[in-house]
Amino acid sequence: MKKLILPLVFFVLSACYYDSEEALYGTPNTVCDVTVTKFSTEIKPILQSNCLTCHSNAAATANGGGIKLQDYADVKTNVLNGKLVGSVEHRSGYLAMPKGGGKISDCNILIINTWIAKGTLND
Ligand code: HEC
Repeated sequence: MKKLILPLVFFVLSACYYDSEEALYGTPNTVCDVTVTKFSTEIKPILQSNCLTCHSNAAATANGGGIKLQDYADVKTNVLNGKLVGSVEHRSGYLAMPKGGGKISDCNILIINTWIAKGTLND
């Protein structure tokens, strides 16, 4: 009898596993596309829609703690000191961003990390 129960338990457990994976990551047609990750066409729009209300050149002093994320040079500075990725990934030791809002999507975080891995280019 034990020999029958064990495979049954595994079957039930794996069924639950696949169910929750779909719920968490969505169906395969929502895969994150990281073939093109340019500063001008991918990174800037992500920052524009999630960060620049507080971190534009004009708003940074009043709303963004003086941190600017509008121009390439300023974004690169915050990549090199680790703060940009630390804050969007909500790592300990960094202030979670966007401040007061939900974490940006896993896909947007992957796009940012891919752009950094490719050399943080001004492309
Ligand atoms: C509602 C305003 C607001 C938004 C939106 C916002 N920030 Fe911030 N951010 C702040 C403020 C204010 C600070 C200064 C620290 C503080 O007061 O919390 C800050 C600090 C930071 C820091 C420094 C973190 C550290 O650990 O020292 C980084 C990096 C940063 N923000 C990146 C971002 C990024 C990237 C986004 C978008 C994904 C974003 N912020 C969205 C207001 C905002």
